[in-house]
Amino acid sequence: MRKDIHIHYEHFKNGTELNEIEQELFEKAKLAREKAYAPYSNFFVGCAILLENGSIFSGSNQENAAFPSGLCAERTTLYWVSANFPNEKIKKIFIVGGPKEFSEKNPPIPPCGSCRQSIIEYETKQNENIDLYFANLNEETIKVHSIKDLLPFSFDGTFL
Ligand code: THU
Repeated sequence: MRKDIHIHYEHFKNGTELNEIEQELFEKAKLAREKAYAPYSNFFVGCAILLENGSIFSGSNQENAAFPSGLCAERTTLYWVSANFPNEKIKKIFIVGGPKEFSEKNPPIPPCGSCRQSIIEYETKQNENIDLYFANLNEETIKVHSIKDLLPFSFDGTFL
């Protein structure tokens, strides 16, 4: 029997379509991006995370001469947040990425597969969705209601 999966997302053409908290998250992710340590790829990514208590934390990708030892902005930030606020729910994750020298042609940068898997872990843990946004430097933004929209048939702890 054939079945289809539909994913839902929103596309904001620029920052005027973002609300106040989304705008703040964009700005914090953009600032974090500027602190990326990415001398090998020159691809700069920033991430801002909003917690249920209203605080926002941010981080950036951290590369390494031994390439696989580097870490994406999303996981750098997620793991720090989870290590320091293990009982605080994550409400929103906002990602801003692009080459160091940004051009108008660069699209919003979606999270890589490993980061999607890591984000699923925290959605499962807190039993509540996390709004996920990814944007380019022009604030063109894609929003999904849950990382599951970007990772159908995902594997999580409920299978174990
Ligand atoms: N990168 C991220 O930080 N997040 C992603 O989801 C995609 C890739 C980083 C990893 C590496 O430092 C650089 O971008 C190029 O892959």
